[in-house]
Amino acid sequence: MLLKNRSEDGVVLKTINLRKDYVAGKEVYSALKGVSLSLKRGELVSVVGPSGSGKSTLLNLLGALDRPTSGKVYIDGVDIYSLNDKELADLRNRKIGFVFQSFNLIPRLSALDNVQLPLLIRDVGAEERRKRAINVLTAVGLGSKIHRKPSELSGGEQQRVAIARALVTNPSIILGDEITGNLDSKTTQEIVELLQELNKNFNTTFIIVTHNMDVANQTHRIIRLRDGVVEKDISLGKTHF
Ligand SMILES: Nc1ncnc2c1ncn2[C@@H]1O[C@H](COP(=O)(O)OP(=O)(O)OP(=O)(O)O)[C@@H](O)[C@H]1O
Ligand SMILES: [Mg+2]
Repeated sequence: MLLKNRSEDGVVLKTINLRKDYVAGKEVYSALKGVSLSLKRGELVSVVGPSGSGKSTLLNLLGALDRPTSGKVYIDGVDIYSLNDKELADLRNRKIGFVFQSFNLIPRLSALDNVQLPLLIRDVGAEERRKRAINVLTAVGLGSKIHRKPSELSGGEQQRVAIARALVTNPSIILGDEITGNLDSKTTQEIVELLQELNKNFNTTFIIVTHNMDVANQTHRIIRLRDGVVEKDISLGKTHF
């Protein structure tokens, strides 16, 4: 066939009718009630919505941290929940980067060693590991502080290390849940500008959950959840591509 399906061009992540029920005792709670989304490579997307609307549940399913009750998630065209646990863990390690609200760095390791960890798991050689970790730490503005431990860095700097750690494997998507939740407004703005810069320079696809509308308004697209469904999906038309 000569004609390609153009709608699939550049799609890095797609969900079809994604549902998640949590069972607690005799109660079944539907946290996601059918979410269908498509994201292009290089999009910088925010997910907003009231507490309990299903934002973290969605992010965990996009990141292969949990399994849906029904529905599909495709990452780079792969139906990820058709994989067994080992294959899924492998896909998570290769294709997905995570950044958390509380940074989740290893306290006794330097920034350099924290960032090298995901490469260690992937059996990348020592010299290459070091080179790549220094490159991403420089990209996040920490080139001069690579030997500091987390306790010797500010909150914003620790989050930069965590972003560098997510970036170092060159994943298809980076997922962040309230990554500026522990930061003051000035530092929050610096982190938003860093995400924009990385998105522009490396075409990294970001999906970030946030309660902060100042943050959401600086992304390309805002997905608003309510009661487990997409209430609004607004393009802000600021993509660099
Ligand atoms: N493990 C669980 N077992 C039972 N119910 C759960 C579980 N995790 C989440 N829920 C419920 O699913 C719903 C969605 O939760 P989720 O954590 O996705 O919300 P959220 O939008 O991230 O909220 P917040 O903004 O407060 O972080 C909530 O009502 C929550 O109580
Ligand atoms: Mg949450």
